[in-house]
Formats: sequence, structure tokens, C-alpha cells
Amino acid sequence: MSELSTDRKTILSGMQPSGELGIGHVAGALRNWVKLQNEYDSLFCVVDQHAITVRQEPAKLRKRTLDIAAMYIAAGIDPEQSVVFVQSHVPEHVQLAWVLTCMTGMGECARMTQFKDKSESNADNINVGLFTYPILMAADILVYNADLVPVGQDQKQHLELARNLAERFNHHYSQTFTVPEPYIPEVGGKIMSLQEPTKKMSKSDPNQNASIWLIDTDDQIRNKIKRAVTDSGSDIVYNEELRPGVSNMMSLYHIATGKSFADIEQEFAGTSGYAPFKEAVGEALVGYIRPIRERFLEVRADKDGLDKILHAGAEQARARARKTLRKVHKKIGFVE
Ligand code: TRP
Repeated sequence: MSELSTDRKTILSGMQPSGELGIGHVAGALRNWVKLQNEYDSLFCVVDQHAITVRQEPAKLRKRTLDIAAMYIAAGIDPEQSVVFVQSHVPEHVQLAWVLTCMTGMGECARMTQFKDKSESNADNINVGLFTYPILMAADILVYNADLVPVGQDQKQHLELARNLAERFNHHYSQTFTVPEPYIPEVGGKIMSLQEPTKKMSKSDPNQNASIWLIDTDDQIRNKIKRAVTDSGSDIVYNEELRPGVSNMMSLYHIATGKSFADIEQEFAGTSGYAPFKEAVGEALVGYIRPIRERFLEVRADKDGLDKILHAGAEQARARARKTLRKVHKKIGFVE
């Protein structure tokens, strides 16, 4: 952290503690974070304040916040090397968010596609937090002057707002914020439902066989893959449109083994039927998930150890966030 952090570029990312922990969390995001943490000064937070833009049960929110933090570590985020913390432990995010809120047009928030989607799916609770959500996200990023933000494609529009707000503030006052770049990983991380492979695998899918969870047992993983919907046809070729089921199996196999699609096609050329392929996918996934699950259960069981990590992470994050906020408050004319 200490000296190195001044030369290295900074990355920040976060996940919401809502829904169960799925393979998508690990394969879609954490895999990249783990790689990036060696090259960048890294901060990873659990964004509990974003989660309450939709209704949450307090006990579940508490549990899931710790689950997500434990999953970061289980997947390979090293808390000695990266700052791991909970958003609500660092009040400077919200303080900066207020300043940015006063510099954001209503229209800028209104056109966010995620706001439109979420207001449709939560029609009985379209709260102002859901509307200003991207401003808080901008504050999460700008308060650390992050250079790079690893996110999914669905967050690109939010990141654009963060960039605009950084530039706007710098222009109105003086150079203050780094304008962050999105870092959107190559596909190969796109994972579809095991039961309806034209739909994304989703934390909220009521069909339990549609998703693979981080805490699935080895046998549950094998069975879900065995029952996964494949396509009519029998050869193993990658074609998302014509062969969504098999392509999804190939993506999962790629994630678990690192093999390219071309290599996978070659490996299974000439095998008859999907059964042997699916068996290989199941075994590969078991091998991939088991160590992460075991580490997760270990980290999660050590409540004091996890508390210590998050406490230390919050301290480090606050020290950095406070510096930025102090500068901002001074520039906008708040009395010291
Ligand atoms: N909105 C992001 C998501 O749902 C989570 C998030 C909140 C985030 N703050 C962030 C991601 C800051 C990256 C950086 O995926």
C-alpha cells in the first residue's frame, strides 16, 4: 500500500450485497480484480448503501455484506495488498455524493437505463435514491481518484456520468479529480441461464437449476450441469445464436479451465452426444469452485478475522477519502 501506491495507478470497484453469491460474481468480475490487484493500487468495496435503493431485510443485508467481503477474499483478493472495505464505513462517499448531486442535472439521472429498468421492476418503490444512485457511484470512484474502474458493460453509462462530473468539477473550480476510465473485461465471462440459455444467468431466477451458486456442493454442480438445457444437434461448436446451450457450456468450461473455444472444439471433436462434454464441464467446474467455496466458508466462519480486515480497510480508505473531501470542501467555499 504505502510507498508503492503513489507510483501505481488506482483501481476501485464494488459489488452490491443483494442476491446470492453466484459463479457470475467470481467469473465475471472477481477473476479480473484478482489479476489487476498486482499491477494497481486497488480498493474493493461492498456497496451496502447502493443496495438499499431497493428494499432489503436488515438481517439479510448484514449477512450478505459479510458474504460479499468473504467472497472477495476467497476468490483471491489479498487484503494485505488491496483495501477491502464496506461503503457505509466510509461516510466521505456520501459527503462527496452530496456535492456532486448539486452539480448533476435531473435529466442526466433520468436517462440512465438502469434507473428506467429498476423503476419498472420496483414500481412500488421508486425512491429518490434509486434516481441518484449513479451519483453515489461517481463519488465512490472520484473520492479515491481512481484511474480505472473494472465494471460490467451494464455500468458503462454510470461511468460516463462519473467522468462528466469529474470534468465538470475540474472545469468549474480547478483540477481536482482524475477522470476515470472504465475497464470492461473481454467476453468469455458472459454466463447464461442453465435452463434458458438465451437469458442471462440471474441471481433472481426462481428456478434453482438455472444458476450455479458459490456454495453449491460438488454434486449439486454436477447435477445442474447434467440437467442443463442444450440444443438439438450433437457437436460441440461455439455459436451463441444458433447453439446457445452448448455455447454456454463452452463458456463455463473456458472459465474453469482457461482453454480457448477453438481448443475446446478440438478436444471434443467427434464425440457423440453432449453427455461426455457435459461431464467434463461439470468436473472442471467442481474443480474450479471447490477451493473458492472452501476458502469462503473458512473466511466467513472467522467473524473476528473478517471484522478486523474490514475495520483496517475502512481506516485506510477513510484516510484517503478525507483528503479528497477536504480539498473539495475548500474549493466550493465551505468554511474550514
Ligand atoms: N453499480 C455497480 C453495480 O451494480 C456497483 C458499484 C457501486 C460500483 N459503486 C461502484 C462499481 C463503484 C464500480 C465502482 O455493478
